[in-house]
Amino acid sequence: MNKTVDEKTKNALERKKRQFVEKNIPPIGVYVVTELINEISRLVNRSPGQGMVPEKIKDSNYREKYDLSINVHNNGMMDNFDLSDIGALKHIKLADKVGPYINIGIDEQSIGTDILNQVLDLGEKYGTSSDGDPKVVIIDYSSPNIAKKMTVAHLRSTIIGQSLMNLQEAVGNISFGINHIGDWGSQFGGIFYMYFKHMEENAPLFQQMIAENPANTLLEIYREYNKESKDNPEMVETARTLWRKMEEGDTELTALWQQFREWSLEEFAGTYGRLGIEFDAIQGESFYEDKMTDVLQEAIKQGVLKYDEDDSIILPSQTLIDGKGNMNDKIMLGKDNLPKGEILQKPNGGSVYLTRDLAAIRYRACELGADEVYYVIGKEQGDHCIKLFNMAKQLGYFALSDVRHISFGHLNVDGRKMKSREGQVVMLDDLMDSAIDSARRGIQERRADIGAAWTESDEARAKAIGISALIFDDLRQSYEKDMEFNFNIAEKIVDSGSVKIQYTHARLRKLIEENDDSFIDRLVSLPAEISPQEKNILTEVMWFPVVVKEAADKASPHKVAAYLTELARVVNSFYESSLVSRATDENTKVFRINLVKAAKQVMENAARLLHIELPGEI
Ligand code: ARG
Repeated sequence: MNKTVDEKTKNALERKKRQFVEKNIPPIGVYVVTELINEISRLVNRSPGQGMVPEKIKDSNYREKYDLSINVHNNGMMDNFDLSDIGALKHIKLADKVGPYINIGIDEQSIGTDILNQVLDLGEKYGTSSDGDPKVVIIDYSSPNIAKKMTVAHLRSTIIGQSLMNLQEAVGNISFGINHIGDWGSQFGGIFYMYFKHMEENAPLFQQMIAENPANTLLEIYREYNKESKDNPEMVETARTLWRKMEEGDTELTALWQQFREWSLEEFAGTYGRLGIEFDAIQGESFYEDKMTDVLQEAIKQGVLKYDEDDSIILPSQTLIDGKGNMNDKIMLGKDNLPKGEILQKPNGGSVYLTRDLAAIRYRACELGADEVYYVIGKEQGDHCIKLFNMAKQLGYFALSDVRHISFGHLNVDGRKMKSREGQVVMLDDLMDSAIDSARRGIQERRADIGAAWTESDEARAKAIGISALIFDDLRQSYEKDMEFNFNIAEKIVDSGSVKIQYTHARLRKLIEENDDSFIDRLVSLPAEISPQEKNILTEVMWFPVVVKEAADKASPHKVAAYLTELARVVNSFYESSLVSRATDENTKVFRINLVKAAKQVMENAARLLHIELPGEI
């Protein structure tokens, strides 16, 4: 059989590579902040291998005076280190030893023009940086299952995955997003069974159901099968036979399966549309069906997998290297604590989820040429990922450092744990509806004040506010933790972090609009006096490229969310002191307007990384 090659996917990747070259991302060295960090590090790390890097000062007691801090506690050189060397650096005002730290204050007069001009020059690109070695990073995200509903857990994967896509791109990598749809597996046997049963019993009614809501009908019959098959071994047997026939390539069943797949994909497309998310490729598990034999044989030849007594193919029980890099000897033990091999091919030749992932990881390494792969999957699949990554390492596809499980916590809704198989399942669309409703109410209330009619742009705004609130709520905290979600987001939305950010951004937009005549393109010099509010904005803006780099390297979008929240805070305090309207001379006014422009630009750049919208009016 000829192996299917996904030309569409390969072309999409080539296109992304070409687009990357055109993007012309600035090297990290162009930024004022990196220059400062490098200079200071050079002075402090005089003996080789010390590698200490100054960071943004954390202690708020020192913030007024200092901006950077470097922990020199373990540095023996420090006793006879001349602080004035640092003080003499360009852009530096003072350097003091405070406990185990060197605290450094920057000269805002000196950096101000450079920073503002840089933001205004680079525009959307400000904050992005390339290390000159672009990597292809595949991000496997969202990945819902055909014939099932997309749940809030898939929403988490989609949101987190999209922000990682954006972050990777921002640090000069070629990120490539694949939706690894669950479109293969024995569950389809049960769905076939029920489908035929209903077609036999009452075809017209059943067809009408399908016509009205195909995806939902699939869901219903799958549920029905799960319920009825519990004490019906015969039913299970028939379903199993149907799935076997499918695996052997039965044309009638394949055509039916194709239909099921399309119904679900269409439904998913609606959800992705609401979120404004597009994947570079949709490659479901079924794509690997004709690639499994090869990868299994290769693994057997290399001694990574072996035949078991019953003719199944297994990964023998062994000590594996876990996500933290530790040797873990518990993962491949059975419930009885005895060694247990992991099945990759059943005695009858059927594959499992892990087999499809093994074929996929090989395809990503060997056919797509990925340098790194991120799997954005819930934490309960941690062991699955460890087995997969260890096999990939043993087979020479990827080093363990190049594959990463982005392991996110459960989403507890109204205090209950989300379950996808049984019990209360919270539907993604309901959640989005509820968020948008609440935003709509918020706008309507304000509208009622001035008696204006509901417009199309109000509706667009309600969507932007509602969806962004959902996204921001997810990304504001580290994804490893379980997350509490109050389904009653309706009450909460106005207090949502993203709404505050959107509100601040709207203020800036208006301010620029009102003062546009005093705006000139380039700022030549700064006023003699700079208020703390202004300085805070300058330094926040200065740090942005470092924040982006760190968030990307650590796969931590919450760092961008925290940054954006802080930026909005300092912007608001600037706004509330009416500094723009109070400017008495032209030079000060020009500086303040430019500061506002820069802050607005950086807010937009940060929001884009998180995939949240700033409607400009709220
Ligand atoms: N379909 C799976 C689920 O809903 C997630 C797949 C994640 N990606 C992967 N390559 N295993 O749990």
